Amino acid sequence: MDLKAYLAQQQERIEETLDEILPQSDGYTASLLEAMRYSLFAGGKRLRPILVLAACEAVGGNTESALRPACALEMIHTYSLIHDDLPAMDDDNFRRGIPTNHKVFGEASAILAGDALLTEAFVLLSRPCPELSPATQIQLVNIAACASGRGGMVGGQMVDMAAEGQESTIDTVNFIHKHKTGALICAALQMGAIIAGADKNQLRQIATFGNHAGMAFQIADDLLDIEATQEQLGKDVGSDQQRGKATYPAVVGVEEARRQATELHRDALEALASFSSAAEPLRRISAYIINRKQ
Ligand code: IPE
Ligand code: IPE
Ligand code: MG
Ligand code: MG
Ligand code: MG
Repeated sequence: MDLKAYLAQQQERIEETLDEILPQSDGYTASLLEAMRYSLFAGGKRLRPILVLAACEAVGGNTESALRPACALEMIHTYSLIHDDLPAMDDDNFRRGIPTNHKVFGEASAILAGDALLTEAFVLLSRPCPELSPATQIQLVNIAACASGRGGMVGGQMVDMAAEGQESTIDTVNFIHKHKTGALICAALQMGAIIAGADKNQLRQIATFGNHAGMAFQIADDLLDIEATQEQLGKDVGSDQQRGKATYPAVVGVEEARRQATELHRDALEALASFSSAAEPLRRISAYIINRKQ
Protein backbone atom coordinates (compact mmCIF):
# COMPACT_ATOMS: atom_id res chain seq x y z
CA MET A 1 0.00 0.00 0.00
CA ASP A 2 1.31 3.41 -1.01
CA LEU A 3 0.40 5.76 1.85
CA LYS A 4 1.08 8.92 -0.14
CA ALA A 5 -1.35 7.84 -2.85
CA TYR A 6 -3.90 6.73 -0.25
CA LEU A 7 -3.77 10.09 1.54
CA ALA A 8 -4.01 12.02 -1.75
CA GLN A 9 -7.02 10.00 -2.87
CA GLN A 10 -8.88 10.45 0.41
CA GLN A 11 -7.98 14.14 0.50
CA GLU A 12 -9.57 14.59 -2.89
CA ARG A 13 -12.82 12.93 -1.79
CA ILE A 14 -12.91 15.19 1.26
CA GLU A 15 -12.20 18.38 -0.70
CA GLU A 16 -15.00 17.53 -3.13
CA THR A 17 -17.50 16.80 -0.38
CA LEU A 18 -16.58 19.95 1.56
CA ASP A 19 -17.11 21.99 -1.57
CA GLU A 20 -20.60 20.49 -1.99
CA ILE A 21 -21.42 21.21 1.65
CA LEU A 22 -20.26 24.84 1.57
CA PRO A 23 -20.75 26.09 -1.99
CA GLN A 24 -19.90 29.67 -2.89
CA SER A 25 -22.86 31.98 -2.57
CA ASP A 26 -23.88 35.59 -2.59
CA GLY A 27 -26.29 37.63 -0.51
CA TYR A 28 -25.89 39.17 2.92
CA THR A 29 -23.74 36.38 4.38
CA ALA A 30 -21.44 36.00 1.36
CA SER A 31 -18.54 37.56 3.27
CA LEU A 32 -19.04 35.12 6.16
CA LEU A 33 -18.97 32.21 3.75
CA GLU A 34 -15.87 33.67 2.12
CA ALA A 35 -14.05 33.77 5.47
CA MET A 36 -15.17 30.20 6.26
CA ARG A 37 -14.03 28.89 2.88
CA TYR A 38 -10.75 30.82 3.06
CA SER A 39 -9.46 28.68 5.93
CA LEU A 40 -11.32 25.49 5.02
CA PHE A 41 -9.84 25.29 1.52
CA ALA A 42 -6.35 26.49 2.38
CA GLY A 43 -4.94 22.99 2.06
CA GLY A 44 -4.80 21.26 5.44
CA LYS A 45 -3.63 17.65 5.68
CA ARG A 46 -7.24 16.51 6.33
CA LEU A 47 -5.94 14.03 8.88
CA ARG A 48 -9.08 13.89 11.03
CA PRO A 49 -11.52 13.16 8.17
CA ILE A 50 -9.04 10.67 6.72
CA LEU A 51 -8.98 8.91 10.09
CA VAL A 52 -12.80 8.69 10.01
CA LEU A 53 -12.59 6.97 6.62
CA ALA A 54 -9.66 4.73 7.57
CA ALA A 55 -11.35 3.60 10.81
CA CYS A 56 -14.53 2.85 8.88
CA GLU A 57 -12.47 0.81 6.44
CA ALA A 58 -10.65 -1.01 9.26
CA VAL A 59 -13.98 -2.26 10.60
CA GLY A 60 -15.19 -3.24 7.12
CA GLY A 61 -17.67 -0.40 6.56
CA ASN A 62 -18.69 1.57 3.50
CA THR A 63 -16.66 4.78 3.52
CA GLU A 64 -19.19 6.62 1.32
CA SER A 65 -21.52 6.95 4.30
CA ALA A 66 -18.62 8.24 6.42
CA LEU A 67 -17.72 11.14 4.12
CA ARG A 68 -20.12 13.75 5.49
CA PRO A 69 -19.44 13.02 9.16
CA ALA A 70 -15.73 13.13 8.26
CA CYS A 71 -16.18 16.59 6.73
CA ALA A 72 -18.05 17.76 9.81
CA LEU A 73 -14.98 16.97 11.91
CA GLU A 74 -12.73 18.86 9.51
CA MET A 75 -15.03 21.88 9.89
CA ILE A 76 -14.74 21.69 13.69
CA HIS A 77 -10.96 21.33 13.41
CA THR A 78 -10.70 24.32 11.04
CA TYR A 79 -12.75 26.44 13.43
CA SER A 80 -10.38 25.47 16.24
CA LEU A 81 -7.41 26.61 14.13
CA ILE A 82 -8.99 29.99 13.25
CA HIS A 83 -9.67 30.71 16.91
CA ASP A 84 -6.29 29.29 18.04
CA ASP A 85 -4.51 31.84 15.83
CA LEU A 86 -6.42 34.88 17.15
CA PRO A 87 -4.45 37.65 18.90
CA ALA A 88 -6.15 36.72 22.19
CA MET A 89 -4.83 33.16 21.85
CA ASP A 90 -1.59 32.19 20.02
CA ASP A 91 -1.52 35.38 17.95
CA ASP A 92 -0.11 33.74 14.82
CA ASN A 93 0.24 35.19 11.32
CA PHE A 94 0.37 32.15 9.04
CA ARG A 95 -1.74 29.05 8.73
CA ARG A 96 -1.96 26.47 5.96
CA GLY A 97 0.53 28.47 3.91
CA ILE A 98 -1.43 31.73 3.87
CA PRO A 99 -2.04 34.62 6.30
CA THR A 100 -4.30 33.70 9.23
CA ASN A 101 -8.02 34.33 8.96
CA HIS A 102 -8.09 37.39 11.22
CA LYS A 103 -5.18 38.97 9.32
CA VAL A 104 -7.27 38.93 6.14
CA PHE A 105 -10.85 39.37 7.35
CA GLY A 106 -10.37 41.00 10.76
CA GLU A 107 -10.99 39.56 14.21
CA ALA A 108 -14.78 39.84 14.25
CA SER A 109 -15.13 37.93 10.98
CA ALA A 110 -12.58 35.32 12.08
CA ILE A 111 -14.48 34.70 15.32
CA LEU A 112 -17.78 34.44 13.44
CA ALA A 113 -16.32 32.25 10.67
CA GLY A 114 -15.11 29.87 13.40
CA ASP A 115 -18.48 29.96 15.15
CA ALA A 116 -20.29 29.23 11.89
CA LEU A 117 -17.98 26.34 10.95
CA LEU A 118 -18.58 24.75 14.36
CA THR A 119 -22.33 25.17 14.13
CA GLU A 120 -22.60 24.05 10.49
CA ALA A 121 -20.68 20.90 11.41
CA PHE A 122 -23.55 19.94 13.73
CA VAL A 123 -26.13 20.84 11.07
CA LEU A 124 -24.34 18.38 8.84
CA LEU A 125 -24.13 15.64 11.48
CA SER A 126 -27.77 15.94 12.52
CA ARG A 127 -29.37 16.39 9.10
CA PRO A 128 -31.53 13.41 8.02
CA CYS A 129 -29.28 11.03 6.13
CA PRO A 130 -30.54 7.89 4.35
CA GLU A 131 -27.34 5.88 4.87
CA LEU A 132 -27.22 6.23 8.66
CA SER A 133 -29.83 5.30 11.25
CA PRO A 134 -31.08 8.11 13.53
CA ALA A 135 -29.55 6.24 16.49
CA THR A 136 -26.15 6.19 14.79
CA GLN A 137 -26.45 9.88 13.94
CA ILE A 138 -27.21 10.77 17.57
CA GLN A 139 -24.16 8.78 18.63
CA LEU A 140 -21.99 10.68 16.14
CA VAL A 141 -23.33 14.03 17.30
CA ASN A 142 -22.64 13.07 20.90
CA ILE A 143 -19.06 11.97 20.23
CA ALA A 144 -18.27 15.08 18.17
CA ALA A 145 -19.83 17.38 20.78
CA CYS A 146 -18.03 15.77 23.73
CA ALA A 147 -14.68 15.90 21.90
CA SER A 148 -15.14 19.56 20.98
CA GLY A 149 -16.35 21.13 24.20
CA ARG A 150 -15.22 21.59 27.78
CA GLY A 151 -14.35 17.92 28.20
CA GLY A 152 -12.37 17.95 24.96
CA MET A 153 -10.72 20.47 22.66
CA VAL A 154 -11.99 23.70 24.25
CA GLY A 155 -11.07 22.43 27.72
CA GLY A 156 -7.56 21.63 26.49
CA GLN A 157 -7.22 25.04 24.86
CA MET A 158 -8.23 26.71 28.13
CA VAL A 159 -5.55 24.87 30.12
CA ASP A 160 -3.04 25.54 27.30
CA MET A 161 -3.68 29.28 27.63
CA ALA A 162 -3.55 29.19 31.44
CA ALA A 163 -0.22 27.32 31.34
CA GLU A 164 1.45 29.90 29.07
CA GLY A 165 4.57 31.30 30.69
CA GLN A 166 4.27 28.96 33.70
CA GLU A 167 6.46 26.08 34.87
CA SER A 168 4.38 23.08 33.83
CA THR A 169 4.51 19.47 34.98
CA ILE A 170 4.29 16.55 32.59
CA ASP A 171 0.81 15.82 33.97
CA THR A 172 -0.39 19.27 32.88
CA VAL A 173 1.11 18.83 29.40
CA ASN A 174 -0.49 15.41 29.11
CA PHE A 175 -3.86 16.90 30.04
CA ILE A 176 -3.48 19.71 27.49
CA HIS A 177 -2.40 17.42 24.65
CA LYS A 178 -5.01 14.75 25.35
CA HIS A 179 -7.77 17.36 25.29
CA LYS A 180 -6.79 20.07 22.82
CA THR A 181 -5.67 17.59 20.14
CA GLY A 182 -6.19 13.98 21.20
CA ALA A 183 -9.93 14.33 21.74
CA LEU A 184 -10.83 15.23 18.13
CA ILE A 185 -8.46 12.63 16.72
CA CYS A 186 -9.93 9.94 18.94
CA ALA A 187 -13.44 11.10 18.02
CA ALA A 188 -12.58 10.75 14.32
CA LEU A 189 -11.59 7.14 14.84
CA GLN A 190 -14.60 6.30 16.99
CA MET A 191 -16.97 7.90 14.50
CA GLY A 192 -15.53 5.92 11.60
CA ALA A 193 -15.80 2.69 13.57
CA ILE A 194 -19.39 3.40 14.64
CA ILE A 195 -20.47 4.14 11.06
CA ALA A 196 -19.03 0.76 10.09
CA GLY A 197 -21.06 -0.94 12.86
CA ALA A 198 -18.14 -1.82 15.13
CA ASP A 199 -18.84 -4.06 18.12
CA LYS A 200 -17.87 -2.98 21.67
CA ASN A 201 -14.48 -4.64 21.52
CA GLN A 202 -13.53 -3.16 18.17
CA LEU A 203 -14.69 0.27 19.32
CA ARG A 204 -12.57 0.03 22.46
CA GLN A 205 -9.50 -0.99 20.48
CA ILE A 206 -10.00 1.78 17.92
CA ALA A 207 -10.40 4.33 20.73
CA THR A 208 -7.19 3.10 22.38
CA PHE A 209 -5.42 3.50 19.05
CA GLY A 210 -6.89 7.02 18.84
CA ASN A 211 -5.72 8.02 22.31
CA HIS A 212 -2.14 6.99 21.57
CA ALA A 213 -2.09 8.40 18.02
CA GLY A 214 -3.68 11.68 19.18
CA MET A 215 -1.06 12.22 21.86
CA ALA A 216 1.73 11.29 19.42
CA PHE A 217 0.29 13.79 16.92
CA GLN A 218 0.57 16.72 19.34
CA ILE A 219 4.09 15.71 20.47
CA ALA A 220 5.10 15.68 16.78
CA ASP A 221 3.46 19.11 16.40
CA ASP A 222 5.52 20.40 19.35
CA LEU A 223 8.72 18.99 17.80
CA LEU A 224 7.94 20.45 14.37
CA ASP A 225 7.49 23.91 15.94
CA ILE A 226 11.17 23.64 16.92
CA GLU A 227 12.65 21.66 14.02
CA ALA A 228 10.72 22.58 10.87
CA THR A 229 10.60 25.73 8.75
CA GLN A 230 7.62 27.97 8.08
CA GLU A 231 7.75 26.93 4.40
CA GLN A 232 7.47 23.27 5.37
CA LEU A 233 4.66 23.71 7.89
CA GLY A 234 2.75 26.60 6.32
CA LYS A 235 2.42 28.14 9.79
CA ASP A 236 4.58 30.14 12.18
CA VAL A 237 7.43 28.21 13.80
CA GLY A 238 9.17 28.86 17.10
CA SER A 239 6.06 30.42 18.53
CA ASP A 240 5.74 27.86 21.34
CA GLN A 241 9.05 28.82 22.92
CA GLN A 242 8.36 32.49 22.30
CA ARG A 243 5.05 32.30 24.15
CA GLY A 244 6.30 29.93 26.85
CA LYS A 245 3.86 27.18 25.87
CA ALA A 246 3.54 23.97 27.84
CA THR A 247 4.95 21.50 25.31
CA TYR A 248 6.64 18.12 25.46
CA PRO A 249 10.06 19.45 24.40
CA ALA A 250 9.80 22.25 26.99
CA VAL A 251 9.03 19.84 29.82
CA VAL A 252 10.96 16.66 28.97
CA GLY A 253 13.39 17.79 26.23
CA VAL A 254 13.53 17.05 22.51
CA GLU A 255 15.11 13.60 22.77
CA GLU A 256 12.67 12.30 25.35
CA ALA A 257 9.74 13.81 23.44
CA ARG A 258 10.81 11.93 20.34
CA ARG A 259 11.26 8.70 22.31
CA GLN A 260 7.78 9.00 23.81
CA ALA A 261 6.22 9.65 20.40
CA THR A 262 7.83 6.44 19.11
CA GLU A 263 6.54 4.55 22.13
CA LEU A 264 3.02 5.90 21.59
CA HIS A 265 3.18 4.75 17.97
CA ARG A 266 4.12 1.27 19.18
CA ASP A 267 1.23 1.25 21.67
CA ALA A 268 -1.12 2.46 18.92
CA LEU A 269 -0.13 -0.46 16.69
CA GLU A 270 -0.59 -2.89 19.56
CA ALA A 271 -4.19 -1.73 20.00
CA LEU A 272 -4.88 -2.85 16.42
CA ALA A 273 -3.24 -6.27 16.83
CA SER A 274 -6.47 -8.20 16.27
CA PHE A 275 -7.47 -6.23 13.15
CA SER A 276 -7.00 -7.59 9.63
CA SER A 277 -5.14 -5.97 6.75
CA ALA A 278 -8.15 -3.64 6.39
CA ALA A 279 -6.50 -1.68 9.21
CA GLU A 280 -3.30 -1.23 7.20
CA PRO A 281 -4.07 2.42 6.34
CA LEU A 282 -4.52 3.16 10.07
CA ARG A 283 -1.23 1.47 10.91
CA ARG A 284 0.58 3.41 8.22
CA ILE A 285 -1.03 6.69 9.30
CA SER A 286 0.22 6.09 12.85
CA ALA A 287 3.80 5.90 11.54
CA TYR A 288 3.19 8.98 9.39
CA ILE A 289 1.97 10.92 12.45
CA ILE A 290 5.36 10.66 14.17
CA ASN A 291 7.56 10.89 11.05
CA ARG A 292 5.75 13.66 9.16
CA LYS A 293 7.62 16.78 8.11
CA GLN A 294 4.57 19.03 7.94
C1 IPE B 1 -2.71 21.59 13.75
O1 IPE B 1 -3.34 20.49 13.19
C2 IPE B 1 -3.26 21.84 15.10
C3 IPE B 1 -3.04 20.75 16.04
C4 IPE B 1 -4.01 20.16 16.65
C5 IPE B 1 -1.70 20.33 16.34
P1 IPE B 1 -2.88 19.90 11.80
O2 IPE B 1 -1.37 19.74 11.78
O3 IPE B 1 -3.66 18.68 11.49
O4 IPE B 1 -3.24 21.07 10.78
P2 IPE B 1 -3.80 21.02 9.29
O5 IPE B 1 -5.22 20.59 9.37
O6 IPE B 1 -2.95 20.06 8.49
O7 IPE B 1 -3.66 22.43 8.80
C1 IPE C 1 -3.65 23.80 18.87
O1 IPE C 1 -2.40 23.47 19.31
C2 IPE C 1 -4.63 22.77 19.00
C3 IPE C 1 -5.95 23.26 18.60
C4 IPE C 1 -7.00 22.90 19.23
C5 IPE C 1 -6.12 24.16 17.46
P1 IPE C 1 -1.28 24.42 18.76
O2 IPE C 1 -1.52 25.83 19.15
O3 IPE C 1 0.05 23.82 19.09
O4 IPE C 1 -1.52 24.27 17.17
P2 IPE C 1 -0.68 25.03 16.09
O5 IPE C 1 0.78 24.66 16.30
O6 IPE C 1 -0.94 26.49 16.26
O7 IPE C 1 -1.19 24.46 14.80
MG1 MG D 1 -2.57 26.86 20.61
MG1 MG E 1 -1.34 27.59 17.85
MG1 MG F 1 1.72 23.71 17.76
